[in-house]
Amino acid sequence: MKVKTKKGLLIGVGATAVTTLTLAYFLARKRRNSVPYAPGPKGMPIIGSIPEVRRDTLKALHDAWQQYGDIAHMHLGPQHLTIVSHPDLTEEILVSGHQTFVKTGALPTGDPLSMGVGNGLLTNADPESWPRQRRMMQPIFHRKRIVSMGDKMTAAGERLVKHWDTDFKSGQAVDIEIEMRRVTLDVINQTMFTADVLGAADKIGPAMTTAVQFTFHHIQNPFMPPLSWPTRENRAFKAAMRTLDEIVYGFIEVRRQTNAAHDDLLDMLLQARDEETGQGMHDIELRDEVLTIFAAGHETTANALTWTFYLLSQHPEILERLQAEVDSVLNGRSPTMADLPNLPYTKQVFDESLRHYPPVTAIPRVVLTDTIFHDYLIPAGSNVVVSIYNIHHHPEFWQNPTAFDPDRFTPERKKGRHRLAYLPFGAGQRICIGINFALIEGPLLLALIAQRYELRLVPDHPVATEIAVTMRPRYGMKMTLHPRKQ
Ligand code: HEM
Repeated sequence: MKVKTKKGLLIGVGATAVTTLTLAYFLARKRRNSVPYAPGPKGMPIIGSIPEVRRDTLKALHDAWQQYGDIAHMHLGPQHLTIVSHPDLTEEILVSGHQTFVKTGALPTGDPLSMGVGNGLLTNADPESWPRQRRMMQPIFHRKRIVSMGDKMTAAGERLVKHWDTDFKSGQAVDIEIEMRRVTLDVINQTMFTADVLGAADKIGPAMTTAVQFTFHHIQNPFMPPLSWPTRENRAFKAAMRTLDEIVYGFIEVRRQTNAAHDDLLDMLLQARDEETGQGMHDIELRDEVLTIFAAGHETTANALTWTFYLLSQHPEILERLQAEVDSVLNGRSPTMADLPNLPYTKQVFDESLRHYPPVTAIPRVVLTDTIFHDYLIPAGSNVVVSIYNIHHHPEFWQNPTAFDPDRFTPERKKGRHRLAYLPFGAGQRICIGINFALIEGPLLLALIAQRYELRLVPDHPVATEIAVTMRPRYGMKMTLHPRKQ
């Protein structure tokens, strides 16, 4: 009897628990169903807005913002995408909301970028290990340390113009996107490894490009065959990764065996210690960080410079002002770090170019549980992007936002602007660690190249944007090279 009663009680308790859970589930569903998604385009049945996003991601996100406002929503097949385009909302996502809006790698599917760069600083989504990683890396990117790399940046710029002097005729057309990638790769090669002791650094660029393109195809197309299948693309990717591993592990091994100081990023990574445990990085961690810095550090700046030269070619009066500044400050010699404070207009041109064409156009995050954001539902496991591009063109914060106007960045006009109306390097705890590096490298190379050459867009060359992780010119950027009289 007792047992029966107990059993009955148990059943009773069990039944009550089930009823309560079921009730909670239906209430939650009802609540979930009663909370709408943000407004947005309906798209096609089943596939939603995939065609628009595939055709032109930047335009699709811009159109959604223009038509539906600062919080918009679209379906991409079964997935939901919420697009955020206001600095106040950005603060709630990237700054105060960083525990709710987390990096893509927190999903069970992981971050597709990890296929190429492993679990480096950019892709690590683990709230336990990332802060330690960032603490170890932060001193390496301190402005004081980067300043010592200015000469290597200038030297890479000089090698580029020397190559133009010797290999191209005046007025010859070249693809400036390729040329800018060449110089920023040279910079990251030299600042990472100094002398190319193994004669192997030249192979890094092409291997890195293959790896990044492959990863991007995976992001765009969830139906790619698994990596274990011997397709042409899979084989090319694996070969590229083998090359990268061989080179990077090779460099690490040589460095571990010798004590010579190079004062470059690899030395600094090898010396980095966790302040609590005193531990350094093991080889896999080092490899991931080297590849991460390589991937994150060269293409972004290359695109920024490419768009800058395009914008200058379309605005002769701005180009003239820039040339006048570099000519009078440098007087024919190459720029150094010490010149940067005397080249304010050069810096303004670079800043405005990053506003106009931000190399990273949107910052993705995911939510792990159903989240209600300003009365809209963001379902568990779905993506949210903060659109840097939309915010940089928001009329509430930018007068005549489509105009290229470097004077927006004079100290007077910057005063009082919303802190997050301008965020080419992101915001919050995951803000770009390379910001000082980029803001030294960009203006130095811009000053050096503008001093020696004028770049003119080839007439009728089509100019359009394309998102391939970063924003690049869809058809390259064909420009003619005109040496300037010194
Ligand atoms: C114009 C040039 C650059 C732009 C526009 C840019 C932009 C960004 C943005 C928007 C983020 C934040 C991503 C997020 O929140 O999810 C980021 C992160 C990062 N960037 Fe940059 N970046 C540039 C140059 C560089 C350079 C030169 C390096 C290294 C030498 C670098 C290394 C990194 C790394 C390692 C992260 C991850 C930081 C973390 O999550 O802790 N970037 N970058």
